[in-house]
Amino acid sequence: KKGKEEKPDVRGKFSGRIGYVLAVAGSAVGLGNIWRFPYLAAKYGGGMFLLVYLILMLTFGYVMIMSETTLGRMTKKSPVGAFGTFGKKKFLKFGGWINAVIPMLIVPYYSVIGGWVLKYLFEYLRGNSETLAKDGYFTEFITSSGKVEFWFFVFAVLVFAVILAGVKNGVERVSRVMMPMMIVLAVVVAVYSVTRPGAVEGIKYFLIPNLEHFSMMTVVAAMGQMFYSLSIAMGILYTYGSYIGKEVDIEKSTTQVEVFDTGVALLAGLMIIPSVFAFSGGDMETLQAGPSLTFITLPKVFSSMGVGTVVGIVFFLMFLFAALTSAISLLETSVSTLEDELHWKRWKCCLLMAGVMLVIGTASSMGYGVWDSVRILGMQFLDFFDFLTNSVMMPIAALATCLLIVRVVGFEKMDKEIELSSAFKRKKLYHFFLKYLAPLCILVILISSIANVFG
Ligand code: PFF
Repeated sequence: KKGKEEKPDVRGKFSGRIGYVLAVAGSAVGLGNIWRFPYLAAKYGGGMFLLVYLILMLTFGYVMIMSETTLGRMTKKSPVGAFGTFGKKKFLKFGGWINAVIPMLIVPYYSVIGGWVLKYLFEYLRGNSETLAKDGYFTEFITSSGKVEFWFFVFAVLVFAVILAGVKNGVERVSRVMMPMMIVLAVVVAVYSVTRPGAVEGIKYFLIPNLEHFSMMTVVAAMGQMFYSLSIAMGILYTYGSYIGKEVDIEKSTTQVEVFDTGVALLAGLMIIPSVFAFSGGDMETLQAGPSLTFITLPKVFSSMGVGTVVGIVFFLMFLFAALTSAISLLETSVSTLEDELHWKRWKCCLLMAGVMLVIGTASSMGYGVWDSVRILGMQFLDFFDFLTNSVMMPIAALATCLLIVRVVGFEKMDKEIELSSAFKRKKLYHFFLKYLAPLCILVILISSIANVFG
């Protein structure tokens, strides 16, 4: 079975480096960049958070993207098959499956949030910007159950349509159109935001590191965010790596993806932090509201600017593109694993995933509403799935990847695969980071996030 049966015309393939980079960037740039990054940066030290984040991205993040992509291309398989290529040991089975199950658990609730974005865009398009800015609107919406389910459904249909179209015609084509458009829209909103009166203080807070703002929490939060933002430890990079040819320069693409992802996070920070400063005069409490920043504070900020509808449409359209391309990568990975392991046709695998999405997505949609009383570890469904995947399973999945390379595959084989297209410039750093830094970071994330819930 060892990859012998691989038929290049059957397995999907990206057309080349640019298509591949845009698809991976599409995966990486998502809710994490636009919704999560700005509120974490605002909360954990502004410029200091940014600095720590950048350092981690260039070290830990770089190593993880390189590793997963290389393993995917080497084995031409999604995670289960990729781990399975190196033997039948229990650890390999476990490592493969944990990487593969994560996107299956994430894509349903991610699509519920995608549905919120769609709903907000729809309301802005109808000219309801004042309604969105009202106190209590967001809470009323997410607890409404039925409406949330409806918008989740619409979002999911869009994602499935792209997956059914295939890797090149669906995933790549959508990424090629949406990603550049997203950047243009993001720049428009960011320029608008930083030129508001009073925004300068916000720009300073966000961009200039201040040692007084440093704490252990800054490091831990930045680590978790980097993990989330780069789409690592959820099988995606294995899968997308399996769709590229040997000519694609993995090191160069990794750098480009990181620049893309960080660039959009920076833009999102510039869209949100300075405009909130301009709106509230630098009131930290408003700024540190957390997850509600995008859905509650921002519509108020837009409306106070007097051009709420236009800015709202541009912002939420951009946000929708970001969320869609990420959800696509999560579903593509899930479907790809099922195709590889069950040897079913693509549409049949989609049907199975539709079932999974319906169950977990519905639970997540209803979780803040009619099923509010059902809690797991004290959390509503959506929060529980987010906790389970991001805080528990993903660090374990990443650790499995590190162990696979250090203990089983060996650096020699990895280097050889990477060097098929070009010289491996940061080889020594890669070895060092993978052996020592990555496992350390992963353990810190795992321990801190579990302590957070149980502590
Ligand atoms: N990296 C993407 C984002 O930042 O939104 C996609 C993603 C991240 C999906 C984390 C799911 C997840 F748990």
